[in-house]
Amino acid sequence: ITLEIDPKPSKDSKFAIDLFIETNINYGTDGGLYAELIANRAFQEPETNSTDPSLGKGTLKYWSPTSSGTKLNLTKSNPLSNALPQSVTISGDGERCGIKNTGWFGIPIDDQEYQLSFQVRSASGGGKSDQEITFGLYSSDMATTFAEGSDKVTLTSEWQEKRYTLNPRGKAGNADNVFALQVPCQGSDVQVNLVSLFPPTWEGTVARRDLAQALADIKPELVRLPGGNDLEGNSIAARFQWRNSVGPLKDRPGRLGTWAGWNTEGLGLMELFDIVEKMGASPILSIYAGYSLDRQAVPEDELQPYVQDALDQLHFLLDESGEWAELRASFGRKEPYSFLKLVEIGNEDWINNAPDTWPYRYPAFRDAIAKEFPQLGQIASSPYNFTGQPAIDQHDYNTPDYFFTQFDRMDSWPRNGTKIYGLEYAVINGGNQESGDIYGGPDRLKHSTMNGALGEAVFTMGMERNGDLCYGAAYAPIFMNEAPGAQQWSPDLLTFDNLNLVKSASYHIHQVNPSSKPETSRVFHSVGTDSQGWYVIKLANVADHASKVVLEFGGGGEGGPKFSSSQATLWQISADGREVANTLSNPDVISPTTSNLPPSSFSQDGSQLTLDLPSLSFSIIRVPTI
Ligand code: AHR
Repeated sequence: ITLEIDPKPSKDSKFAIDLFIETNINYGTDGGLYAELIANRAFQEPETNSTDPSLGKGTLKYWSPTSSGTKLNLTKSNPLSNALPQSVTISGDGERCGIKNTGWFGIPIDDQEYQLSFQVRSASGGGKSDQEITFGLYSSDMATTFAEGSDKVTLTSEWQEKRYTLNPRGKAGNADNVFALQVPCQGSDVQVNLVSLFPPTWEGTVARRDLAQALADIKPELVRLPGGNDLEGNSIAARFQWRNSVGPLKDRPGRLGTWAGWNTEGLGLMELFDIVEKMGASPILSIYAGYSLDRQAVPEDELQPYVQDALDQLHFLLDESGEWAELRASFGRKEPYSFLKLVEIGNEDWINNAPDTWPYRYPAFRDAIAKEFPQLGQIASSPYNFTGQPAIDQHDYNTPDYFFTQFDRMDSWPRNGTKIYGLEYAVINGGNQESGDIYGGPDRLKHSTMNGALGEAVFTMGMERNGDLCYGAAYAPIFMNEAPGAQQWSPDLLTFDNLNLVKSASYHIHQVNPSSKPETSRVFHSVGTDSQGWYVIKLANVADHASKVVLEFGGGGEGGPKFSSSQATLWQISADGREVANTLSNPDVISPTTSNLPPSSFSQDGSQLTLDLPSLSFSIIRVPTI
């Protein structure tokens, strides 16, 4: 195959690789990116995974007594706060009584410092001096102690926060461990709430180190947050409410998550922005647009408070002075989040009956935000046929074959001023387009496969070739906790358990650069230049056989650019079969290699570069020209 390279690749491409962090899905944030190790730390979790709001009343899920004589009483008496009304009293018979927590599907223990905090008061309200409290990390049967501390505290009727550091002696071989808090059974007078335990985190944020580093390594330009369906909620009452996700943890009531369990909102608005800032990226803030997943829309004459709430959120984030700036400063952030440049109004407003009410919901948010924050760019989650939006966010979930056919999709799209983002895309089904239901059908993928990742590579190369129109793309969803029962959506960019992280084939390919000209066959390519003027050539060989490819400049001849053989590099990823995937048991079966291209790859006069592309491979060549 001979591929013709544009001698002057477009330099004005706006295309960038972005990220989408959706809270709640697959226990990817509570239980994942949010490094909190205590599950149900304030006794808010519903008993089951049901999304019935009446179940969000709080339980002892993930907690149990440390001894058979222990009595745990979940109570609403003397609440810590309006937001966290439930707490636990510990009493019983025997030597020590206590409460233990299994964490989110286990607690990993390493020889590093853990920061513990909890709220405690005298349960009787009468006061108690020298109340002994012992706390530590143990194997689940409590036979092995990894770390333990104790204190004698004076309790009163007022809640007080206690903070300690735990230093485990060595590392546990698995995550089958618990955190426990114990008191002498006799004469104790203890009421406890908001028990929190953090390992060292990423860059001083609240994020789990390995997961956040994997995101940062993508070097995203934009990060969309916090949803997705979890922005909308399963009902209007269960939508994301920014006010409940900022400020002291004791004032965050949380909410019933869209996908599973209870959102603590510990990974709230400011914590998410902190992570994005430390990645060197900029957020796309998703704004709730008055429509939820039970297909209910806020009526037109009741919409104004929701619009005002969105404006308040933006004032809180962006104001330099005044009441909102002071509130933000009181929560620890004096400077405005001026790296916020883009908001997205709504989520997937082309689905179900959302389009019926979009014509009044969208302009209400669009115009109010444009009036008070003219500096912000806007993206609309519009129905496709809705015109006049500055930018739209289209989502693509499909099969590899579908994605292979989308390489040219945007070549003919109108350049009418509406920018295109693709802030959710993924191959989710290994079958072909004729196989029916790609969501529920038998070929739904559990993990990202090589074939799927190639489909995504071809698709995103198609977007970047249209970089004057298409401004960015993000794979979705981002995380899957592999613990049994923790998943609601597959495949995902990064999968993990308590101890391990697996970077999928999609992850490895989810890195691109600006480029220009099209070319089609079973070998797809795109071309761009980097900041030093080197050519960046990407090649996806989606065929089951190896392909010899000759790259040469179109319209070359005398005076045209020539390849320089010095320092040219090759990044490559491939697999032996389409369904091959990285999993916990085989995490690196698809992993990139890097090498220098040998001088023998180049013709004597530098006019051609010849490569043997393995079957099912994706390659990035960086080559200087003379
Ligand atoms: O990424 C999973 C879900 O897919 C998102 O929450 C939603 O926007 C889309 O339908």
